[in-house]
Amino acid sequence: MTSDPFKAALSITEDSVKAAAAHSKQAAALAAQVPGIRADTLLRPIRKVVVIGAGTMGGGIAMSLANIGISCTVTDATQEGLERGLKKVRDNYQSSVSRGRLDQPAMDQRVALISGSLDMAAVKDADLVIEAVFEDLALKQKLFLQIDALAKPGAILATNTSGLDVNAIGAVTKRPQDVVGAHFFSPAHVMKLLEVVRSDATAPDVIATLMDLGRRMGKTAVLSRVYPGFIGNALFRNYTREAHFVVEDGALPHEVDGALTKFGYAMGVLAVQDLAGNDVGYQTRKAALATRATDRRWNDLTMKLTDMGRRGQKDNKGWYLYAPGDRKPQRDPEFEQWLVQESARMGITRRPFSEEEILKRCLYGMVNEGAKLLELGIALRPSDIDTVYLTGYGFPAQHGGPMFLADRIGLANVLADIQRFHTEHGVWWTPAPLLEKLVREGKTFASLQAAD
Ligand SMILES: NC(=O)c1ccc[n+]([C@@H]2O[C@H](COP(=O)([O-])OP(=O)(O)OC[C@H]3O[C@@H](n4cnc5c(N)ncnc54)[C@H](O)[C@@H]3O)[C@@H](O)[C@H]2O)c1
Repeated sequence: MTSDPFKAALSITEDSVKAAAAHSKQAAALAAQVPGIRADTLLRPIRKVVVIGAGTMGGGIAMSLANIGISCTVTDATQEGLERGLKKVRDNYQSSVSRGRLDQPAMDQRVALISGSLDMAAVKDADLVIEAVFEDLALKQKLFLQIDALAKPGAILATNTSGLDVNAIGAVTKRPQDVVGAHFFSPAHVMKLLEVVRSDATAPDVIATLMDLGRRMGKTAVLSRVYPGFIGNALFRNYTREAHFVVEDGALPHEVDGALTKFGYAMGVLAVQDLAGNDVGYQTRKAALATRATDRRWNDLTMKLTDMGRRGQKDNKGWYLYAPGDRKPQRDPEFEQWLVQESARMGITRRPFSEEEILKRCLYGMVNEGAKLLELGIALRPSDIDTVYLTGYGFPAQHGGPMFLADRIGLANVLADIQRFHTEHGVWWTPAPLLEKLVREGKTFASLQAAD
């Protein structure tokens, strides 16, 4: 047994796996409980749903609803978008039938529950409207104005935004109490996580109804308050930021991903970005360049990759090279050379990184942000953050989630490294006051659960 607390916490034993499994089970059960909302709250009936936007998310959301017998109309701005979306739904079901996971009559029944429309007036009869159009606040606000004018009183108006301000969306309507975030993950008919995002105005029965609907769809619903990226994407931002900084500081892409897969992730974060597309969020990032805080270091590697035509698997190159038709990432010596030159251009002296340091930078970025979210009341409990990570972000189950793992390592040890990173790398690493308080008091994140 090693005496290094980090190594010891990461080492896998039968007991440690059992403890992580027990934690994750308990955490998922706890996530369903919302303090202040009575268990006997009268739920709003959800019989008919309209999903606006027949893209990647809209189709999957419609399937999740049809799978539990709820009738659903999908709308889109264009005939082409609608047809493509509905075809994708049928293809997904067909593939389940071909694999023997669904029988043909069940598929027919589900497909029959999903209809298409180009007319926004479809929202008139809906008990629940779920907006899933492009990630653009002005577009979503325009749509919610229209929905507000058409939907019946008492209908729940949800947005599938990945992180926009749900308060600002609700504020354009005359019924902000009925507006809520319903953040599904991709592919929505498969992924278990549903982040339910309450605005400052969302009514308790709307929250209860959405949490219950999530459960009925076989998902784990976790409640979040409004914050850029909510719980999941807020932590993810810190995780990717550190992975990219580490690349600029001296680690090569396969070293970063190697450390993460050895830790237990099915894929490293850079390979995941190649899969999702390094161009995701390009316009938003570009637009934000002008207003960035000047007190910290920024990183533009994904924008640079996009500008170089390295969007990832779809270009057969990104952080890695891909042989046509093959998803296996291969090292690219030319790109690695470019990275070395890029560090030099930025005045960074590259240095070797141990797996341990790569992991600490990526994981502690999440833990520190998690502590901030707890202090701000964005996440209700540390275990909710773990649930988000275990069900939506592929966090290795054997480690029980980022907050559980931090307790295992010992918060004093985690804080000591964060303080060192703060000295070395500046403001991004400002220790979360809650983390400092817990260490001062000799407490764990788990001790905060006692409030439940
Ligand atoms: N793709 C993901 O991995 C993912 C995951 C979670 C959340 N989200 C969020 O879900 C939302 C949708 O993302 P997506 O990936 O499905 O996008 P997408 O580009 O695949 O689909 C968007 C669809 O909305 C349609 N549309 C645009 N304007 C419209 C309008 N005014 N009325 C009706 N339809 C309109 C488009 O024609 C398109 O079919 C975004 O807010 C996104 O941030 C995406």
